[in-house]
Parts: sequence; structure tokens; C-alpha cells
Amino acid sequence: MNASEIRTLKSWLAGYIAGFAASDEELKRALRLKRVHTARVCITIRRLGKALGLPENDLQLVEAAALLHDIGRFPQFARYGTFRDKDSTDHGRLGLRVINRHGLLSGVTPVERRHLARAVAFHNAARLPRLADTNSLFLLKLLRDADKLDIWRLVIGHHRHRGRMPKVVNQFEYSGNGRCSPEVMSAITSGQVVPIEAVRSVCDATLLYISWVFDLNFAPSFCETLKGGYLERLAATAPPAPEIRCTLQTARDHARRRSAAAKGLAKLSV
Ligand SMILES: [Fe+2]
Repeated sequence: MNASEIRTLKSWLAGYIAGFAASDEELKRALRLKRVHTARVCITIRRLGKALGLPENDLQLVEAAALLHDIGRFPQFARYGTFRDKDSTDHGRLGLRVINRHGLLSGVTPVERRHLARAVAFHNAARLPRLADTNSLFLLKLLRDADKLDIWRLVIGHHRHRGRMPKVVNQFEYSGNGRCSPEVMSAITSGQVVPIEAVRSVCDATLLYISWVFDLNFAPSFCETLKGGYLERLAATAPPAPEIRCTLQTARDHARRRSAAAKGLAKLSV
């Protein structure tokens, strides 16, 4: 993957997204949000990659993964009118179909193509899949970290500027009594990501976002989490609850421990 291939992909993607222009204001905002999210994940992944000491050709590969990771969001929305995978289709898998249909990776090496395809297909998987190829796994982990960091920023930004996030972007359905659910608390106390199906209240949704810290992979991602104060700012988006205070402490301790992990080149260079 080189700089000119990235430029070609970027301009193709811009045209592709423009083809999904929505008539309704709310939908326009939803599509714009995904476009901006993609651009920000590109910046974030490069920053994380640099912190890990990746060489320039690897940085281009990780940027390509970020550029393509949510390509499935646009046809998903056009076809189903929602970003909820459970009510429509898995947008990671759909993204891979878009990539294949348009031959977007026909110019890259088979090895790069394999890494990118896996990264796009599994970036949104509830759990990290078992991949025997350590480089594919590395790229996937880095993409998942960059994606989460930017979604945190979006959630926090939405809370600070109420109403800026289009309603259609909300992934949750609230049916509970507004309190934190026991299932959510038990996932958190065992250091696991809260399953989306368990979310029944705003408190649960906040805890789900905070629990993503248990799914981050690299020291620079934990450093950004702490430096940006994301965990505290996420906690502040929900009404005060003892469960959130206690979770915040666990999550922060985890991030501190992992941010201090030895740095160094984890892998890649294809
Ligand atoms: Fe996604």
C-alpha cells in the first residue's frame, strides 16, 4: 500500500458516499457523521501506529483499514434506514461485500488484501475472532482501538452539545427502570465488555461504553484514554449512580496498568 493508492481510495470513497445523499436533514446528518468518523479514525489509527513505531508503509496500510472500515454503513443506511446491525445487517460483512464488488483492493498485494478484508469484516465483532495470522490480528486490533477512541469522542461530544448526534445513530433501546442492570454490572466486575443486548437504560449504555476499555489492545490506546479523560467524561454523560463511580475506578485502574505495558513494535510490515 502506498500514498498514491491511499489517495485513489480516498477519492473513490468520497464519490461513493456522495452517491448516498439523503433528502431528509436528520439522515444527512447521520451520513455526515459517519463520513467524519471515518476521517477521524484514519487520523487516530495513524497516530497510534506511529506511537507503536510502525514504518510509513505500514501506516498507509492501517490508514486504508480505517478508511474502509465503515464503508458498509452507507448501503446499510440506504437499504434499511438504520445503523442498528441487529435490525438490518452486519455492517462489517456488508463493507467487505462492497469492497469486493467494486474491486477496491485489486491493486494491493494478496497479503495486504487479506489483512484489510479481515479488519473490515471483524472490526465490529462483539469479540475479537481467533485469527492465526498475527499480522491480520494486529491490524484488526489497532483498527478496533482507533474506532472505539473516536466513538467515545462522539458520545462525549453528543452529550456536551445535546442533539448534535442524529437520533438514528442511537444503538440502544431503553426498556428498564433507568437503573443499572445486574447483567451489565456482572460483565463489568469480571472485566468484560458489556453485551449490547444487556443494555436497558442510559446507565447501562454508559457502562457499555466504559467497558470498552477492557477490549482495547495497545499501550498508546490506553495512554490516549487516560490523557483524554474519556472514562471520566463518559461517566459524566449519565445521571450519577454508585455503580458508575465504582466501574469508573475499575476501568481507570485497568487503563493505567495497560498504559504502562512495554511499548515496541508489535508486528506487521508486509
Ligand atoms: Fe463500524
